[in-house]
Amino acid sequence: MLPTPGYWPSSSFPLAAKGADIIRIDSFMNHEREIWNAMYAQESHASLVPDPFLIEAYENYVAPLLGEGTSGLHAIDLAGGVGRHAIWMAQRGWQVTLVDVSDEAVAIAKRNAGDAEVSLDLRLEGLEEFVVQAEEEQFDLILVFFFLQRELFPAFIKILKPGGIILYKTYTVEQLKLRPGQGPSHPMHLLKSNELLRAFSSLEVQYYRETVKDRGVAELVARKPA
Ligand SMILES: C[S@@+](CC[C@H](N)C(=O)[O-])C[C@H]1O[C@@H](n2cnc3c(N)ncnc32)[C@H](O)[C@@H]1O
Repeated sequence: MLPTPGYWPSSSFPLAAKGADIIRIDSFMNHEREIWNAMYAQESHASLVPDPFLIEAYENYVAPLLGEGTSGLHAIDLAGGVGRHAIWMAQRGWQVTLVDVSDEAVAIAKRNAGDAEVSLDLRLEGLEEFVVQAEEEQFDLILVFFFLQRELFPAFIKILKPGGIILYKTYTVEQLKLRPGQGPSHPMHLLKSNELLRAFSSLEVQYYRETVKDRGVAELVARKPA
């Protein structure tokens, strides 16, 4: 499910800086919610095909390090959209929480989970609120696909259990040169070169790659020291 051309928020809405008030964060979240609700209502981003990076990273890192089919493992899909990755994980026996700010996405994810006959813990919430309030060290696996709000990186590390793994994939600034108009265009939504690698350098980085041909994306697999 690649973002459809022209369907990515290109907004320059001012993101609340450190110390800014809660009203500004609420306004930002409401703005994101409206944009994404409109996209999902037009059936954009509706695919249930998992990103190939999830499958590769699961086979090469998650299953070998955390076990496959082990009961009691808890994954969270941050900004999980209509549930393509959450459902894939639940089908492999994981307990899965999906958080998304869009009412439409969460409603569609609920329907998709029902169709797939899996159970998901669905949370309709902005990540700004969710990760700040979330208990520390509670998830064995964090998935972040095609979402970037860089000030939340430390909170992602906070909610990961020791020994837990984060899989992160999203666009880099290269995307602008390679496929202008496809994917996000605002710097707020684009990683700089090596940004993800540096942001998660307190973890054990198992795999990192940036593509500079066809698509500009970064992919990271990192494990929190046990
Ligand atoms: C490009 S979609 C990616 C969805 C999913 N990760 C995937 O790859 O299929 C971006 C998602 O981020 C969600 N989102 C945007 N801002 C958010 C926020 N502040 N908190 C939570 N979710 C947010 C949108 O509603 C949308 O579902």
